[in-house]
Amino acid sequence: MNEHTLTPDELTDQISTVLPTPPGQRMLHQRGVTVIGQFRAEPRARQLSWGALFSGEQVAVIARFSGTRAGTHDADSGDQGLAVRFVPATADPTDLIAFTLPVFFVRSGADMLEFLTAVSAAPQCPAAMDEFRQAHPESSAAFELGSDRAPRSYVGQRYHSVHAFGLVSPTGTTTWARLEWHPDNTVEPLPVETATTLAPDYLRHDLIDRLPARMTLYARLPRADDPVHDPTAVWAEPAQLIPLGQMALEARTADSDLDFDPLRLAPGMSAPRDRLAADRSAIYRAARIRRHAGSESDCGTNRFKHPAHFE
Ligand code: HEM
Repeated sequence: MNEHTLTPDELTDQISTVLPTPPGQRMLHQRGVTVIGQFRAEPRARQLSWGALFSGEQVAVIARFSGTRAGTHDADSGDQGLAVRFVPATADPTDLIAFTLPVFFVRSGADMLEFLTAVSAAPQCPAAMDEFRQAHPESSAAFELGSDRAPRSYVGQRYHSVHAFGLVSPTGTTTWARLEWHPDNTVEPLPVETATTLAPDYLRHDLIDRLPARMTLYARLPRADDPVHDPTAVWAEPAQLIPLGQMALEARTADSDLDFDPLRLAPGMSAPRDRLAADRSAIYRAARIRRHAGSESDCGTNRFKHPAHFE
C-alpha cells in the first residue's frame, strides 16, 4: 500500500475494517476509566516553557487510563494508555496522550494499517508478523521492549509520549523532549497466569482503590546522537530527565467521551515534527466522527469543558 494514496478518512475506514468496533466505541483503547485531578508545575518547568500549563498555578486535569481492545481481559489487553487533558484557567487546553511502551512500532498511519493487518492475520497466518517485521526493521525496538508480564496497576507504571514535543521558553528557545509520566508508587507487574485469575477489569478496580494517587511528569532530553523526531527510536541511556510537575489524581468520574488529539497544544509548546503525530491527529478526528455518527453530541462541544463538568 502506498502511503501517499490514502487520505486520513480512507486510512480510518481501512483500520476500522481490520479492527471491527461496536458502534459508538473508540476504535482502539475502548476500555477505560476516567479520573479528575490537578497538575502543578515545578518552577524549573517555567524556564523550559512559558505555556500556562507550566505557570506553577494549579491546573485542572481529566485523565483517562485505557486498555487497548474491548472484550479482552486486563491481563492480555496489550499496552495501557494514559490520555491527560490539562485545562488551565487562562488558556486553551492541552492534551498529552501516552502509553506504556517508550517507542512505537511505526512511523506513519499507512504503516500502522500494515501493522494492524498483520496483527489481525497472525492467528491464522503466523508468517504475517515476520513479514511485517522484515519490511519494517524500525519496528524491532518496540517489539523487543514488549513485556511478557501483566500490568498490576494503572497508576503504578510509566507512560511515554513517544513523540518529541517542543518546549518553548520565555526567550523563544525550543527544547525538544519526550514527555513521560512516572508513578510516585511503582507497582510491579504480575505473571500473566496470576493476573488471569483476577477479574477481567481488575485494573479499573485497582485504580479506584488506589485513589488519591500521584504521578510526576518528566521531560526526557535527547543525547547528541539520538534521532529526535523518530518515534520508533530508543534514546540513549542514562536518560536526561527533568521533572516538570506533579499530577494528583483525586476521584473517578464518568468514563469520558473526550476527543483527545495528539496535536491539541496550547501556546508554549510546539507540535512534534514526525509524520506519525500528524497522521494520528487526522485519524483520531476521523475515528471520532465515525464513533459519533448519527449522535447529537458530534459537535465538538466537549473539547473545552472543565473537568468539573464531568463529575
Ligand atoms: C498511526 C498510529 C496510531 C493510530 C492509527 C491510532 C489510532 C487510534 C484511534 C483510532 C483511537 C481512538 C480515537 C477516538 O475514537 O477518540 C486511539 C486512541 C488512543 N491512542 Fe492511538 N493510534 C496510533 C498510535 C498511538 C500511539 C503512538 C500512542 C501512544 C503515545 C497511542 C495512544 C492512544 C491512547 C492512549 C488512546 C486512547 C485515548 C482516549 O483515552 O480517549 N496511539 N488511537
